[in-house]
Amino acid sequence: MKAIHLYEFGEPEKLVYDSAALPTPKAGEVRVKVAAAGVNFVETYQRRGWYPLPLPVIPGAEFAGVVDALGEGVAGLHTGDRVATAAGAGAYAEYAIAPADKLVPVPDGVTLEQAAAVLLQGMTAHYLALSTFPLKEGDTALVHAAAGGVGQLLVQIAKMRGAYVIGTVSTEEKAALAHAAGADEVILYSQSDFGSETRRLTGGKGVDVVYDSVGKTTFQKSLNCLRPRGMLVLYGQSSGPVDPLDPQTLQHKGSLFLTRPTLGHYTLSREELTWRTGDLFNWLAGGKLKMRIDRTFALEQAAAAHAYLEARATKGKVLLAP
Ligand SMILES: NC(=O)c1ccc[n+]([C@@H]2O[C@H](COP(=O)([O-])OP(=O)(O)OC[C@H]3O[C@@H](n4cnc5c(N)ncnc54)[C@H](OP(=O)(O)O)[C@@H]3O)[C@@H](O)[C@H]2O)c1
Repeated sequence: MKAIHLYEFGEPEKLVYDSAALPTPKAGEVRVKVAAAGVNFVETYQRRGWYPLPLPVIPGAEFAGVVDALGEGVAGLHTGDRVATAAGAGAYAEYAIAPADKLVPVPDGVTLEQAAAVLLQGMTAHYLALSTFPLKEGDTALVHAAAGGVGQLLVQIAKMRGAYVIGTVSTEEKAALAHAAGADEVILYSQSDFGSETRRLTGGKGVDVVYDSVGKTTFQKSLNCLRPRGMLVLYGQSSGPVDPLDPQTLQHKGSLFLTRPTLGHYTLSREELTWRTGDLFNWLAGGKLKMRIDRTFALEQAAAAHAYLEARATKGKVLLAP
């Protein structure tokens, strides 16, 4: 089969398009013929060696497609079934492997492209808004990178929960997308100070929660946007890792809460996984949630897809099509 290999860490060109042996599913695993694979920021960190993986590796964890072969002991799945996962292996390929218990069936009314696009970013937005800081009617939230993949979904889900949402974005074009997703206010953090703007928009009070995926360039100021006992949810580092923090700072700034969550810890059980994916698929099929697929690259253009993500150019989901 054709696949993308990473033989050494480095720039996007290190993603090499070549051939690989068809993977064999072990006990409890399933081989899937990939229809679309999600490209995620974490794979750029892995490619750079920030989150090192044993090399060589076929990157990617998120894909949707049809079941092609079953490992020993897999029950309840059949060849030809439409499935998707955010926790597979070797997604940047024509065929990929996933543990059977991490696969979910894709219902009618949801395309394989939509499923590959929504799972990782959608489950992230779901756990952030429903579990990490469970938003309720009237809560105020600041969502950074609100026109991004997770950002647009998080804004929509926060609005479904009845929150007042302030988004930050870097350009006017992205501001329009954040508004379209439902943000009540949008701050161009490339042009104005989002700390003082957030204070102004909340009548000096500060927000209940900040969802910060940008990291290095926003983190310190995000702490200043919170009301006393508010929560900073740092869930990414698109601009780089944040500097170390003295816990005393949380006291000075209002007895704040800080958490650094990751999706794996919010999909610990099968029930949790199917709850989140079930909500997402229902919302998508019912038109309640809009999934913006920004660009689909051919598999051999994986390097260009990474460069696109890192250039801050994406406005929604990026997919690879084998
Ligand atoms: N913890 C988890 O469970 C989890 C799960 C999924 C994703 N994530 C993280 O969430 C973040 C967002 O993921 P995503 O896939 O939805 O990406 P994304 O938000 O679509 O893309 C990143 C956005 O971050 C903003 N940004 C600010 N400074 C940047 C910089 N120096 N370089 C690049 N981008 C910069 C840009 O928006 P503006 O131009 O508007 O500033 C950019 O579009 C990533 O950091 C990812 O690792 C975490």
